[in-house]
Amino acid sequence: MTVGPVPGQLRAAARGNAGVSALSDVSVAYLSALAGEPVWARTQGGVRLRLPMRRWLGFPDAAHRADEALIRHCDGPSLDIGCGPGRLVADLLGRGVPALGIDTDAIAIAVSRRRGAPALCRDVFDPVPGQGRWRCALLADGNIGIGADPVRLLRRVRELLAPDGVAIVEFASAGVGLQSHRIRLETGGWSGSWFAWAQVGVDAAGVVAERAGLRMLEMEAVGGRHIGLLAHEIHCCASSIASLSIRGNGCSASSRYANSINVRSSP
Ligand SMILES: C[S@@+](CC[C@H](N)C(=O)[O-])C[C@H]1O[C@@H](n2cnc3c(N)ncnc32)[C@H](O)[C@@H]1O
Repeated sequence: MTVGPVPGQLRAAARGNAGVSALSDVSVAYLSALAGEPVWARTQGGVRLRLPMRRWLGFPDAAHRADEALIRHCDGPSLDIGCGPGRLVADLLGRGVPALGIDTDAIAIAVSRRRGAPALCRDVFDPVPGQGRWRCALLADGNIGIGADPVRLLRRVRELLAPDGVAIVEFASAGVGLQSHRIRLETGGWSGSWFAWAQVGVDAAGVVAERAGLRMLEMEAVGGRHIGLLAHEIHCCASSIASLSIRGNGCSASSRYANSINVRSSP
């Protein structure tokens, strides 16, 4: 994958997109990753986690197979929320699926556009084009943590989706539950400011979805990543059954969609 522009050009593009002169912490992180530097997220508890920035920039890593599983579920106009540099939007467009990314970070938007993936510099809680008409909404790469209030975020996703739409959400591992904490981004020689983020493990996914008026249809584990499909509570049974023929999953799935969460696991 070729990202194309060098960081200096990206900075200029980002300022143009955002209308600002200062770079955000997320921009610094993406620029550092583009320059080949490692980037970490650190919790106030002192845990430091290396972020898969190279995958986010579009270079396959050991966990990229789950990306394929994420976008396989996108069978109509898809909104990638917190799209970063737009790798999923680009893949969707390459398969003929209409897609748009939104992200609050100007560098992410600049990279996404440079690779031909349409993206808007937009907060998910602000007005978004196509509200109430999106067939699919993606929250990948831990983006369920956006805003540090997953129930509020999923309620917003519910508003964005068409009545028969599906949210495709990546969750953390079992045992994580629902956690919110303050984190900051770090590189070898720089630390950003603390900000609030959340994590939702597969063990808490159903409860969080339910509080947001969504229902879990399916949970799939792929290469250590966990992908849940969520639909509007009142439409999920009818729309799931209707969508089965479109998705080609077979009629046997209808009762499981209607009655329970389907759990699948791939190596
Ligand atoms: C964990 S990274 C996701 C990486 C991304 N999916 C990718 O492929 O690079 C979180 C992303 O969410 C974006 N973000 C954070 N808050 C947001 C908000 N309120 N609305 C839209 N995007 C947001 C960040 O700018 C960042 O790019």
